[in-house]
Amino acid sequence: MNVLLIGSGGREHALAYGLAKSPSLNKLFVAPGNAGSQQLGTPVELDVLDHKAVIEFCEENSIKLVIVGPEAPLVDGICDSLRAADILAFGPSKLAARLEGSKRYTKDLCMRMGIPTAAYASFDNASDAKAYVAQQPMPIVIKADGLAAGKGVVIASDQSEAMIAIDDCFDGAFGAAGAEVVIEEFMQGEEASFFVLTDGQNILPLATAQDHKRAFDGDSGPNTGGMGAYSPAPVMTSELINETIEKIIKPTVAGMREEGNPFSGVLYAGLMLTAEGPKLIEYNARFGDPECQVLMMRLESDLLPLLSATAEGTLSDMDAKWSDDVALTVVMAANGYPGAYEKGSVIGGLDAAQADENTYVFHAGTTAKDGKILAAGGRVLNVTARGACVRDAQERAYAAVDRIDWPEGFCRRDIGWRAVKREEA
Ligand code: AMP
Ligand code: GLY
Repeated sequence: MNVLLIGSGGREHALAYGLAKSPSLNKLFVAPGNAGSQQLGTPVELDVLDHKAVIEFCEENSIKLVIVGPEAPLVDGICDSLRAADILAFGPSKLAARLEGSKRYTKDLCMRMGIPTAAYASFDNASDAKAYVAQQPMPIVIKADGLAAGKGVVIASDQSEAMIAIDDCFDGAFGAAGAEVVIEEFMQGEEASFFVLTDGQNILPLATAQDHKRAFDGDSGPNTGGMGAYSPAPVMTSELINETIEKIIKPTVAGMREEGNPFSGVLYAGLMLTAEGPKLIEYNARFGDPECQVLMMRLESDLLPLLSATAEGTLSDMDAKWSDDVALTVVMAANGYPGAYEKGSVIGGLDAAQADENTYVFHAGTTAKDGKILAAGGRVLNVTARGACVRDAQERAYAAVDRIDWPEGFCRRDIGWRAVKREEA
């Protein structure tokens, strides 16, 4: 089968890596991909906001399945346009992608379906929001309703911080995403991510992972898209996984179906493991980045039939096999990220870093020029390793990091610390 994979990050290199192993893959196209995924698929220049152009490309190249990596084209409705043209698409419809695109929509669904989540209220003006906050205990969480590239959340430790966050939102700090504000109770606990495939009716649990959102060691510094991850997350015991499926995932999938917006694709639940059990922080309508990289390092089943069955609505026939190994990925980012950074520096040592069969370097923001690999983004490489335990995977990943010659980049040196601590307790 010919496949078109949309996206250019580490997540899409990981999906390309999974797809490239599939016996049923004929030709893979990546739009636009990066220097890593372009070694596994043919790059295509497509404006993914131009749905007509994407459909024409699919028709001309006998594309049987389009896999959409990032959230923006999903929220923009690319899957609806593809389906209307009889092209199979992996990813939710525009209305179902509101699970990621609108925090208020998700909170309202949780309320209706009795899904455990932080108590909340939503507002379309600053004065009502402030009057509400004045009555609430601190800390409190202020969120822009829409997509804000992970930056629209403020955890305010006191009233004045909360008031500033509300003003920022309504003053346009997050553009249209801040036209509504969701205010949430602060939940205490450890965070974990859980991924499932769903075709709108059937659910196929994938795996657990833990991300590291802050830029620097010890979970300090500014928030980022994610500086490293591992899977499985040992904090997610099988009891917690079952509880999450029964109390969070199943009612979500049922609620979406009942309201006429069945969710098809990968559902990524961001969870807070509180004293009262797992509670939903947020949903994403796509694979996590860099969580997808560790999932793909552990997946033993053929990825392509799993994704096409999700798109076709035949997930009930499918099963996913996972390696018992732990996979861990360290993000190497350009100096300055998540603030301003330079592009164009040369990256060396990539072959040496991957000499061990248990390591693989997924590319994120890279480009190939004159036989060299150049940095072309904020998060640039995802140095990934498998091991028998988290410590083992961590040692291998950092040994690979140390073989990479890229003075213009940095990484955290403590990815996996929570799980290592748990392992060694
Ligand atoms: P979100 O974009 O909704 O995932 O929020 C970003 C981060 O803010 C999460 O990963 C949590 O660390 C934190 N967060 C969000 N909502 C809450 C909450 N209600 N209580 C505590 N922490 C939260
Ligand atoms: N790593 C967090 C995310 O993909 O949203």
